[in-house]
Amino acid sequence: GLVYLNGEWLVPEQAKVSVFDRGFLFADGIYEVIPVYHGRPFLAQYHLDRLHRSLAAIAIPDQPDAFWQSLVVELIDRNEMQNGLIYFQVTRGAESKRSHLPQGPVTPTIFASISPLELHWDTPEPAKVVLCEDIRWLRCDIKSISLLGNIMLKQYAQQQAAIEPMLHRDGSVTEGASSNYFAVKDGVIFTAPRDNLILPGITRMWVLELAQQLKLPVREEAFHISELAQLDELFLTSSSREVQPIGQIDDIIIGNGRCGPLTQKLIEAFHESKR
Ligand code: PDD
Repeated sequence: GLVYLNGEWLVPEQAKVSVFDRGFLFADGIYEVIPVYHGRPFLAQYHLDRLHRSLAAIAIPDQPDAFWQSLVVELIDRNEMQNGLIYFQVTRGAESKRSHLPQGPVTPTIFASISPLELHWDTPEPAKVVLCEDIRWLRCDIKSISLLGNIMLKQYAQQQAAIEPMLHRDGSVTEGASSNYFAVKDGVIFTAPRDNLILPGITRMWVLELAQQLKLPVREEAFHISELAQLDELFLTSSSREVQPIGQIDDIIIGNGRCGPLTQKLIEAFHESKR
């Protein structure tokens, strides 16, 4: 496939960045991931709005909306992609030497690629997650490429044969290492509020919208780890996993370990919405 780097379309082997790129040296950059279904980007404007917010938050110069929109279209067209995941990354560019603060005007490095994504219409098997203390920083609302904390937490989850860590701060569940969590208790859906402790997932936002359309009661309130054993249903959301039922947290089985009825409804509504 072809990737985009700083104005050029290249085969990946030809796409090179400087060793002095601030993404490489400092993880000084942000990224965005946009799903593509049937050759069309899904909820693209929400992703682009989040990209603008991430860039603004760390004061990297941005491009007009139309630039990103045409990059989305070109990535899909040039790679003849039906179902895939677009990856955008913007760093604060390269200079001639390493220094924490840029010494002159900044020319951001812009990289974009697309990779195939298997589109499934079935209900995924309920998966296992593991509870972890959220060891990340306090600006999780920025989609930073600095993902060391997320990776360490994912490594731990993998060791425990779990698909994701479930992160908590002082007992309140925040999110996953690359996903957002939703819990169901007595017919009410709970998910952590949109603040600096979570990435405001676009799939999260869309599931909240679908729940509202289905007249399912939702509260954007964090649930507590002391309530986990009493939950009726649990699922996580992300651009790559869509809506993924969770049947187990460590040794705790959620409900009867099967996909719950509200989760099932939302999975069906989600599949319907991406037609
Ligand atoms: N991850 N929380 C975190 C920390 C994430 O990294 C992600 C996405 C989400 C879900 O956001 P969305 O629904 O917009 O995908 C929540 C992407 C997919 C990734 O890192 O590849």
